[in-house]
Amino acid sequence: MVCNSSDNSSSTSTTKINGDGGLSEYQLGKCISTTELSQVYMATNRKGKELVVKKISTLRVSADLIRNEIYAGKKLRHPHIVKMVDHFTEGLYTYIVLEYIKGTDLLQYMIDRQWKPLKEKEAKSIFKQLLSSLIYSHKQGIIHHDIKLENVLLSKNRKKVKLIDFGLCEPVHDCSKLSQRWCGSFDYVSPEILAKTPYSGCKADVFSLGVILYSLLFSQLPFDFNERVNEVVHRKRSHPSLKIPEIDDDTGLPFDVSSNAKDLVKKMLEIDPKKRISLEDITRHSWMKSSYSIFPTFTSSFPSSTTTSTTSSAIAVGCGSSCK
Ligand SMILES: Nc1ncnc2c1ncn2[C@@H]1O[C@H](COP(=O)(O)OP(=O)(O)OP(=O)(O)O)[C@@H](O)[C@H]1O
Ligand SMILES: [Mg+2]
Repeated sequence: MVCNSSDNSSSTSTTKINGDGGLSEYQLGKCISTTELSQVYMATNRKGKELVVKKISTLRVSADLIRNEIYAGKKLRHPHIVKMVDHFTEGLYTYIVLEYIKGTDLLQYMIDRQWKPLKEKEAKSIFKQLLSSLIYSHKQGIIHHDIKLENVLLSKNRKKVKLIDFGLCEPVHDCSKLSQRWCGSFDYVSPEILAKTPYSGCKADVFSLGVILYSLLFSQLPFDFNERVNEVVHRKRSHPSLKIPEIDDDTGLPFDVSSNAKDLVKKMLEIDPKKRISLEDITRHSWMKSSYSIFPTFTSSFPSSTTTSTTSSAIAVGCGSSCK
């Protein structure tokens, strides 16, 4: 990752505080992330509050995607979803201003602990928070489409997580609507996206969340990256089946993962989206039972698991024109 320590590259923007609104309201600082599509900067507002500013190239990212990210930012208010506080377009860039989450993303967290698997209790705490954010987001009619370790921020005390990056999100009326956006990150996307068949975005998000749970518990990704790439390139129709490892290759010790946790992982990573567990059914799964109280206001608006209608190491899957 290459970052400049500060940004002065935008043709019309200035980091000076001059009271004109827009970018002039913010003092940009260190760049904390950069891709060819966007950069994320530390920033402060006029009151000195720390924020981050995501600067998106309007030449490189489609207007649809930018509109959707802003739509999600305006609509979603949830304790485990990053809060958007402002947005504006200046010159060739759209700027999205977000609350600053001090901490690290989950991928960096796993790297820092040398991919030592999380204890089930810690994995469950993270998972519960993400599950509640996703249930809420889907209830608000927003499919995330890019659930991955890099897009989950963990607070400094490691107790709280927040879902970020709605840059590939899709507004939908309900979960039975089939999506045809072939986007996501190879390690995380569902088999139906790799196979390029119309799919339920809700079930695809469940699969990606399952990849996160698997990687927290087993400190590895569930499917081979190259095999998945081949699947798209050579249009192979059969997806490799899931293997639940017994032994941690790094330590030679058996993984300390309960059968309930393994069962939930298998149900989330079910290849057939019609048989894959729904978010609602996850809340009723035995592994979740002891913690059901985090969903006090949840009421069903999801199809059950049997009634569904017919970008690190992350790389976007052969995106269509509507994708960044
Ligand atoms: N609100 C925030 N607080 C702290 N750090 C953040 C915040 N938003 C983003 N970041 C950091 O910037 C990185 C990139 O942000 P984001 O995922 O939104 O952008 P992106 O350009 O779409 O990235 P990618 O293409 O990898 O998905 C995050 O992984 C995180 O490290
Ligand atoms: Mg991201």
